[in-house]
Amino acid sequence: MGSGIYQTSAKYYDDAYAVKLDLVDLAFYVDLARQIGGPVLEMGCGTGRVLLPIARQGVEIHGLDNAPAMLNILHERIQTEPEEVRRKITLHAGDIRNYRGSQKYRLVTIPFRPMQHMYTLEDQIAALKTAAFHLDEAGILSFDVFFPKYHLLDIGIGEETLELEWPVKSCPGRKVRRYFRKDFVDKIDQVFSFTFIFRTYVNETLVSEDTEGIKLSYYAYPQFKALFRLAGLASVEEYGSLNKTPLDEAAKEMIFLLRRAA
Ligand SMILES: C[S@@+](CC[C@H](N)C(=O)[O-])C[C@H]1O[C@@H](n2cnc3c(N)ncnc32)[C@H](O)[C@@H]1O
Repeated sequence: MGSGIYQTSAKYYDDAYAVKLDLVDLAFYVDLARQIGGPVLEMGCGTGRVLLPIARQGVEIHGLDNAPAMLNILHERIQTEPEEVRRKITLHAGDIRNYRGSQKYRLVTIPFRPMQHMYTLEDQIAALKTAAFHLDEAGILSFDVFFPKYHLLDIGIGEETLELEWPVKSCPGRKVRRYFRKDFVDKIDQVFSFTFIFRTYVNETLVSEDTEGIKLSYYAYPQFKALFRLAGLASVEEYGSLNKTPLDEAAKEMIFLLRRAA
């Protein structure tokens, strides 16, 4: 059942995104969940980076993911939470393209780009239909993707860039550096392939290296408009950043709030 992605990077995921200071999505999704209330379905919940803070606010939330390595970490993290938080959480191992649960939700979220792991039109429509299927009458779907930096698409292919660095808390002198290497851009199908390289150092001596190849679709705004129609969704609000700036020329991301079309 596993997706095959995140099998290697799962163990680095939480530490990496804890030091990625430009990732400001948590307040956006936690506020939305508090405003709209549960039950929430998070499609592509990963290690619970967003799911756990929502559950800690007392909001019931279900998480859906198909990467066993990510879900295993989330299971372990849930065990360390107080009973009142654990009670708010239900996990489903499944694929966002075809999962059909028995429950409807006031809020469905797809935080931090799982939609960019949908590489074909069929998969993109399927994932949005899964979201639409699980919305209750007044239910809201929200998700984010990055706004493509078209002028950078061809630049730096094959080059490694140091992106993030963090200390391994349990081992003094040990640190991990995450490098990013853009490998290939398929401009026809709009899929961008890159490799994360995780290098572990002890006192600045390289002791191990893990790599994981990742692909991300990128989307044009009118493409989403067509996808929403095909999936039976209608846009309610749109933003160009997680700070809710307008979706205009300056947009860094595309963030949508949608409901089921009438
Ligand atoms: C960048 S992570 C985001 C995780 C979490 N939402 C967060 O904000 O940290 C993308 C997640 O989408 C999941 N994913 C990708 N394709 C999927 C699919 N077809 N079905 C279910 N989950 C999928 C991955 O396993 C991964 O956990």
